[in-house]
Amino acid sequence: MVEVKAAWKVIVARALGAYVKEKGLTVELPAPEAIVVETPPKPELGDLGFPMFPYAKLLRAGPPMVAQALAALIAADPEAQGLGQALAEGPYLNVRLARTPRIASVLEASAGEGWGKSALLSGRRIMVEFSSPNTNKPLHLGHLRNNILGESLSRILRAAGAEVRAINHINDRGVHICKSMLAYQRLGEGRTPESEGLKSDHFVGKYYVLFNEVKAQDPKAEEAAQDLLVRWEAGDPEVRALWEKMRKWVLEGIAQTYERTGVHFDLYDYESDTYEAGKDIVMQGLSSGVFYREEDGSVWGNFEDIGLDRKVFLRKDGTSLYITQDLGCAVDRHESWPYDRLVYVVGNEQQYHFKVLFESLRRLGYAWAADLHHLSYGMVNLPSGRMKTREGTVVDADDLVEEITRLAAAEIEAKGREDAVGDSSGVAERISLGALHYYLLQTAPTKDMLFDPEASLSFNGDTGPYIQYMGARASSILRKHESGEGNAQKGKVDLSKLEGDADWALLRQVAAFPEALDGAAAQMDPSVIAAWLHELAAAFSSWYRENPVLNCPDVDLAASRLELVRAVKRSLQAGTALVGIPFLEAM
Ligand code: ARG
Repeated sequence: MVEVKAAWKVIVARALGAYVKEKGLTVELPAPEAIVVETPPKPELGDLGFPMFPYAKLLRAGPPMVAQALAALIAADPEAQGLGQALAEGPYLNVRLARTPRIASVLEASAGEGWGKSALLSGRRIMVEFSSPNTNKPLHLGHLRNNILGESLSRILRAAGAEVRAINHINDRGVHICKSMLAYQRLGEGRTPESEGLKSDHFVGKYYVLFNEVKAQDPKAEEAAQDLLVRWEAGDPEVRALWEKMRKWVLEGIAQTYERTGVHFDLYDYESDTYEAGKDIVMQGLSSGVFYREEDGSVWGNFEDIGLDRKVFLRKDGTSLYITQDLGCAVDRHESWPYDRLVYVVGNEQQYHFKVLFESLRRLGYAWAADLHHLSYGMVNLPSGRMKTREGTVVDADDLVEEITRLAAAEIEAKGREDAVGDSSGVAERISLGALHYYLLQTAPTKDMLFDPEASLSFNGDTGPYIQYMGARASSILRKHESGEGNAQKGKVDLSKLEGDADWALLRQVAAFPEALDGAAAQMDPSVIAAWLHELAAAFSSWYRENPVLNCPDVDLAASRLELVRAVKRSLQAGTALVGIPFLEAM
């Protein structure tokens, strides 16, 4: 659609120029790119709609008048011949595209390697930091939202031509880590994940929870954990060995969750390596006047002029803070891989932190700090009463994936589809990911949301499985054709046969893919792809219910419709891959 829009903007701009000349007006007309184009609310009105309001004042005529004049000028424009028809409709100039050439170009594009790719961000280097867990416990439901936002964003940015590095910033030091270590020292008695038959990150998480018990027995437990941190920082071999062991357990367990859910990183940052980064940058900022020193020796930044607060960057004893480290990391990352943009996928409770961080980097004079983003997302909750963990609040990521998979398997069984789907436990797993990821992405990132496992799995709603089901339907039509069934065998492709409104309406949904991709990439919002996928799936669903493909008596129409089914399948495959919904050939 994008290139068609651009072509029609040029035609409309030329007509505006001709109008001005005809009337002898001297006005400055907008550049073709600046001309606004919309999609008419009803397909009968056409494929593109140009509102005439912006030109009415300029041309000293009412919008309907302008629309009529432009329609006449375009009808007479030799360069617009064969591209479609422009018609005045009240204050709008609506365009009906010439269908056959458009169908041919969309079907051809959709069959090519470039379908689902664009050049919007080509030549740009973008680093996306996401997930960034702490090594004291397993992932929770909030991480599942984070992970799929970051994963999907990385895929979308890559598809839009950017060079992307996905980075995971592991928080593996600090007093919270020492709490699980202390509990293990006191209560572990040499147990291991293997001896307990527990996933290794869950094993460590259990000790993090058990710290509460340690605290109940020992009023000095907090101090003891603090003491472990001091010994860790001093490099005490015993503490380091325990830390290594538990950290490995957590990281191995978390890696299994990433693997299961299809989440990938190009590199990892460990806070244990970077926690002192940034101190020198703060010192430089102190001498250049970006920061100031308080009487007690601590170093601060003042952000009151931009409506924020004063913020400490180095404590009076010279130790660094969360923000100090983030300053250092951003600079180090840029030194090792000069990015044009750095995106942090982090919950909205850290909005303030990132505002201060970005502003500091700008004040410190880093040119690249102009393109730093906090992709901030809201909370995810489950309907009350479901899956409370021992702590009573946090929902474990693995448990949730397991529960959805179980529900999906039960659904396959209830429908008696085990044989039809083949590997039914594999399919249940893939349906569960489709359900989870679509549900988490469909809501715009900034909003809080409720995750409802049953609703996410519904086969006929605004869900991932619904999209997967339509992909399986398209696949099944193609399979039948390939095995010799149906009328498409007997016909030949004649794309002019697809000019009918129903076929055209479906083609328009296919054709909307490039625009959805660029929109998602530009706004850094995977929900744009999710919404387009749903519309395509819904369009396909009503189309194939009402329009026979293999059974179509007109054999040439059957063969042509089959091409449309191929385009739908390719679009669903490429689109679902961007949002972490596994494509299913059968379900
Ligand atoms: N580990 C932190 C947490 O769980 C998130 C880290 C975000 N990334 C960053 N560069 N500050 O809250």
